[in-house]
Amino acid sequence: MKKLKLGILISGNGSNLQAIIDNIKANKLNAEIAIVISDNPDAYGLTRAKNANIKSIHINPGKYKTKLSDEAEQEYIKCLKNNKVDLICLAGFMRVLKTNLLNAFAGKIINIHPALLPSFPGLDAQKQAFDYGVQYTGCTVHFVDNKVDHGPIIKQAVVEVLQQDTYESLKEKILKQEHKIYSEAIQLIAENKIRINGRKTTII
Ligand code: GRF
Repeated sequence: MKKLKLGILISGNGSNLQAIIDNIKANKLNAEIAIVISDNPDAYGLTRAKNANIKSIHINPGKYKTKLSDEAEQEYIKCLKNNKVDLICLAGFMRVLKTNLLNAFAGKIINIHPALLPSFPGLDAQKQAFDYGVQYTGCTVHFVDNKVDHGPIIKQAVVEVLQQDTYESLKEKILKQEHKIYSEAIQLIAENKIRINGRKTTII
């Protein structure tokens, strides 16, 4: 079976990237990482990519804080196309994608969010859930559409919030599940097992 070519977009630590690298090495994931792109030159994820001999690049995001400038967006599209990416995985990429990039890779962009969507979208989802006092939270892998943390859900994992949990311990437990379900979701796509019907996905 042909390997799915991934383009992974990061901004920071890159532990989800690392989990994908490790799962590919362990033959749990029939994919290869064609390119890692960071909007932040100091992202530790870039070092993780280099250590694994994976092509990586910092592309300047332009003047905005939460989105790419039009020029930067074109650079991202060009780089992803040049590297023949089949699927874009947002892995802690801290910017909202705009229409041109979404259209260039329609239905081929996924994201991992550290809460059970549609609860707690946006920034600091683990903190939002912890402060709200929920007893269960978790993480969600979903297709990306033109609304933030909104597209059809591919996979979720539930994490129980225990009495003794702190925000930090909760965040760590969620991250552990993220590392598991992100690769599982990518593998489902690699096997062409996902069908989308409106908001719903089914596994065939
Ligand atoms: C993760 O919690 C992810 O869900 C969120 O940003 C964090 C990125 O962590 N979108 P890492 O860079 O993969 O370690």
